Amino acid sequence: MISQEYESFKRQVKDASDIVSVVSGYMPLQGKGRNMWACCPFHQEKTPSFSVNPDGQYFKCFGCGKGGDVFSFVMAMERMDFPEALQLLAERAHIPVPERRGGRSPEEARLWEEGKNLLYRLNEFAAKFFQGQLEADGGRVAREYLERRGISAESIAQYRLGYAPDSWDSLCTELRRRQAQERHIVAAGLALERKSESGIYDRFRNRVIFPIQDHSGRVVGFGARALSDADNPKYLNSPETPIFSKGQMVFGLYQARQAVEGHRRVLVMEGYTDVIMAAQKGFPTAVATLGTALGAAHLRLLRRFADQVLLVYDSDKAGLAAAERSLDIFFEVELPARIVTLAPGLDPCDFLIEHGPESFAERLDASIDLFDFKLATVRAQHDLSSAHGRAAAVKSLVDTVQRATDPIMAAELRRRAAEAFGLPEEALQAELAGRVRPVRRDRPDQPEGSDRPDQPGLSRRGRAERELVQALLACPSALPRVAEAGELSDPGAAEILAVAARMHADLGELNLEELATRLSRQESVELLAGLAAGPTSPRGPAGAGAASFDPEAAVDRVFLDLRRIALEERLAALLEEKRSAAPERQEVIVQEIIGLKRELEAMRRRPEPAIHRQDSTPEGESLATQP
Ligand code: UTP
Ligand code: MN
Repeated sequence: MISQEYESFKRQVKDASDIVSVVSGYMPLQGKGRNMWACCPFHQEKTPSFSVNPDGQYFKCFGCGKGGDVFSFVMAMERMDFPEALQLLAERAHIPVPERRGGRSPEEARLWEEGKNLLYRLNEFAAKFFQGQLEADGGRVAREYLERRGISAESIAQYRLGYAPDSWDSLCTELRRRQAQERHIVAAGLALERKSESGIYDRFRNRVIFPIQDHSGRVVGFGARALSDADNPKYLNSPETPIFSKGQMVFGLYQARQAVEGHRRVLVMEGYTDVIMAAQKGFPTAVATLGTALGAAHLRLLRRFADQVLLVYDSDKAGLAAAERSLDIFFEVELPARIVTLAPGLDPCDFLIEHGPESFAERLDASIDLFDFKLATVRAQHDLSSAHGRAAAVKSLVDTVQRATDPIMAAELRRRAAEAFGLPEEALQAELAGRVRPVRRDRPDQPEGSDRPDQPGLSRRGRAERELVQALLACPSALPRVAEAGELSDPGAAEILAVAARMHADLGELNLEELATRLSRQESVELLAGLAAGPTSPRGPAGAGAASFDPEAAVDRVFLDLRRIALEERLAALLEEKRSAAPERQEVIVQEIIGLKRELEAMRRRPEPAIHRQDSTPEGESLATQP
């Protein structure tokens, strides 16, 4: 079916198109070795999560989930289909395109479509196979599991849930019996190639299967839940394939679509079980992302069916952090959104089971507008009684307001922000204007604003903790010193460092890919992906002074920063306490304050560990907007 000549032409083009060199033609890559990094061209970000692997000749963005080989890269970058990308790369490599009459050959387009069709057929076959296995004798554990979770027979049928048997080749065997070729089974993400010998084995084993369907019902991939807590990861998902992209797909849209179109409103949740339980309890408009952060592509998909999004994230820190992170893209895509908070510690599935649909409906009614949520988070994150805190708050708000591409909406957001913080609108306006003014630095002793990774809304401690992760991953031999950082406030950073330190202690080395698989918190995975900027500096423009970069000094410097932040936090707390403290306590407080100030002063005098040649760090933006 697939012509020999076409196959060998493809191979030839691929071999001649080194992915590093192709990607570098579009944007600079940093680092060398196993992975090279850049800011992802397919989604908005400030810290590089887009990696290129020269050995494997593939790219992968840990932020939006996009990944693939050199062909998929060009397709995404140039918005081309496969035959066009193939042609472009062939021309780049001066390889003559066989028998073509200019432009894109209909034959190639047909083959590409056929290839995709084959992937759909394989996925559909697998879905039916898994459904059958759930009903078979061997599926009893899975049936019992679903029953225990309160998932009804109707839901099982509606969402086509299934079971992948505890076997290495039950699906592969069935597929082979139907003449499926091994490489196609692997391409569909259903099997993996054996490492030591030839042959393939089932990707999903002893797991409950949640088929992922596109909005028209075609099965494009699978989420698969482990049955035992010992099995890692808890959910294993299909890899990215030409028909499956986690950054552009949501779970449950096919089932929810009619209801969503009717209500013009969609509930966005985090988990497969959340969506199924919601539908089961009378909330049929729910969908979920696939373990990746909600991105602009998701919103563009949802915008086709809904006019409003209700974010129903887990009401734990991670869920709120996820909501907060995805917040700005709503203003970018201009899809109105509200946020629903449930009881602490419960995800929508648990909440529905424990409190019932009436309470859930009440929570939905009590949703708050996303920008008001942003205002509340900013309020909670910054000490608004200090000029500094207010300046940081304004900066964070301005980050959001700037996303709004529609000037009327931007003006409205500015007005609301000003009103909420009792500021003259001009203060925000000035901060916005300040974005394009040359940088100033009014307080040389305050390191804020000069650092990467400078994510909007991150506190100074938050930033320093991220830098710590980055510095220690770049210098694993310093991992045993992690306790020097004191207690970390960011649970993601804390988990990454704890796991990394354990791994380093066990193995005597650190393998970042392995590390990523050992993390249990979504926020850790995302943080790691966002930060794994290779062995570059945690400060200054990545790559600047890379030649003279000294990872150990960088570690020292971050520890120092954290120490200083801890002292400053303590100082702020003492000043606060002093305001209302009893007279007999005043003296003690003052003494401690004096001690702290001395220590801080001494730190400022001490030269910082030089991690770069002098002058290689930029000054950074000023934060010193005085409201
Ligand atoms: P949760 O850990 O909240 O899972 O992850 P859940 O849906 O509540 O599942 P149960 O109730 O424990 O069975 C939320 C979502 O994040 C993705 C999955 O899409 C999951 O539904 N996820 C989670 C992964 O992709 N991999 C994981 O290892 C964990
Ligand atoms: Mn959950």
